[in-house]
Amino acid sequence: MSTADRKTRKLHVVTHGCQMNVYDSARMTDLLRPLGYTTVDTPEGADMVILNTCHIRERAEEKVFSQLGRLRVMKEAQGGNMMIAVTGCVAQAEGEVLAKRAPFVDLVVGPQAYHRLPELIAQAHRKNGVVIDTDFPVEQKFDHLPDDAAPQGVISFLSIQEGCDKFCSFCVVPYTRGAEASRPVANVLAEAKRMVALGAREIALLGQNVNAYHGEGPDGAPWSLARLLDRIAEIEGLERIRYTTSHPNDMSDELISAHRDNAKLMPFLHLPVQSGSDKILRAMNRKHTADDFRRIVERLRQARPDIAFSSDFIVGHPGETDADFADTMALIRETGFALAYSFTYSPRPGTPAASQPQVDAAVADARLQNLQALLREQQNTFNARIVGLETPVLFTGSGRHPGQIAGRSLWLQPVVVQHDANLTGQVRMVKIHHANPNSLLGTLVDKEQIAA
Ligand code: SAH
Ligand code: SF4
Ligand code: F3S
Repeated sequence: MSTADRKTRKLHVVTHGCQMNVYDSARMTDLLRPLGYTTVDTPEGADMVILNTCHIRERAEEKVFSQLGRLRVMKEAQGGNMMIAVTGCVAQAEGEVLAKRAPFVDLVVGPQAYHRLPELIAQAHRKNGVVIDTDFPVEQKFDHLPDDAAPQGVISFLSIQEGCDKFCSFCVVPYTRGAEASRPVANVLAEAKRMVALGAREIALLGQNVNAYHGEGPDGAPWSLARLLDRIAEIEGLERIRYTTSHPNDMSDELISAHRDNAKLMPFLHLPVQSGSDKILRAMNRKHTADDFRRIVERLRQARPDIAFSSDFIVGHPGETDADFADTMALIRETGFALAYSFTYSPRPGTPAASQPQVDAAVADARLQNLQALLREQQNTFNARIVGLETPVLFTGSGRHPGQIAGRSLWLQPVVVQHDANLTGQVRMVKIHHANPNSLLGTLVDKEQIAA
């Protein structure tokens, strides 16, 4: 190796989109570290910038192009000495278009080709022009990821499944992430153990359809998510487990029972339903009804009475009438959500719903306002119900103000406690006194009190 190869290089990573992208960005950073890349907080002066992109809605995509415009100016100011890589779902969906629209980009890498980054960078150094790799290789990217991952912290995210075969009418994910694929059990367990050794006390298992998990078990047979969760729960030192994102159709009996039987499983489930209208659910190709969703929620509440739900909603999908929207509002009222993400429908190129007659934008916006007001109210109600409870909190670090420590409740709410000692990584009982819209305030319940 020449000294030039060994010099340290500055890497700046920008991440958009879902937790899978956050995970992937961390893995790319791990992959480039042995090549001398250390991360920096700003793109100015960076030798390499990775823009890890999201294609889910139009606005997400627009953000990429405006950011690229700014990077181009910086790159020129550095005399061209800045390698720009676009990765993620926009790279996958728009590879060729991107290369034409932004020829100052050096690399376009789809989400399945990250493990080839070092090789692609070398290619880009040799070549004048954009290097594009948006293949779906036969080998799994997960098999090629480095062992020496940087610690993520007390709460760590672990990708176990990727891709989607469900083809909802509105969604780009099956096209950008490819077919549904699960990591083998041994592989997941090794990474989970490594995370715990590095200080993780809560692990969130990630996948576009995480409950469709069917990774190969040590016995050669496919293992379900419930079975994997049981095995992960055996890891000593790990306090809590959750998984996201789930599809209602993959909430198996076994997985519902796991919420009763697996003590480390948190009483919180993100279960996107999208709409409460059967007609729209059919148009969305969701393959379940609103009542199917109600039944799943009810059975989960029987299995784990303190379980709280979060969900995703789309308003203004093609064909949605006022009556359909009213059905969605009714489902929300009946279910009661602790948290939710909601969006107006955004037509995505190449998806079936994009070519159908569209709902008027002002109508969709008005519906979204109504729906978000209801969901906000439910979130406040949920937070208010926690006030007065003594509940375990996993401490993650210091709070924003001096003398404060911060952690998470079992329902993912940030909790702030006035306390001098560092409790990072510990689970302690906290009495909740006050609920703000986005956080809870409490005091530690001391040990004698618990014993009593
Ligand atoms: N796999 C998950 C979620 C994937 S994307 C699931 O099955 O639900 C995250 C959320 O983005 C979706 O749940 C949906 O609510 C929203 N979304 C996806 N495509 C969209 C589109 N074209 N317009 C608006 N919102 C969209
Ligand atoms: Fe998209 Fe539907 Fe797959 Fe979720 S289940 S990723 S919404 S196609
Ligand atoms: Fe976006 Fe791709 Fe995730 S489109 S939401 S980054 S899977």
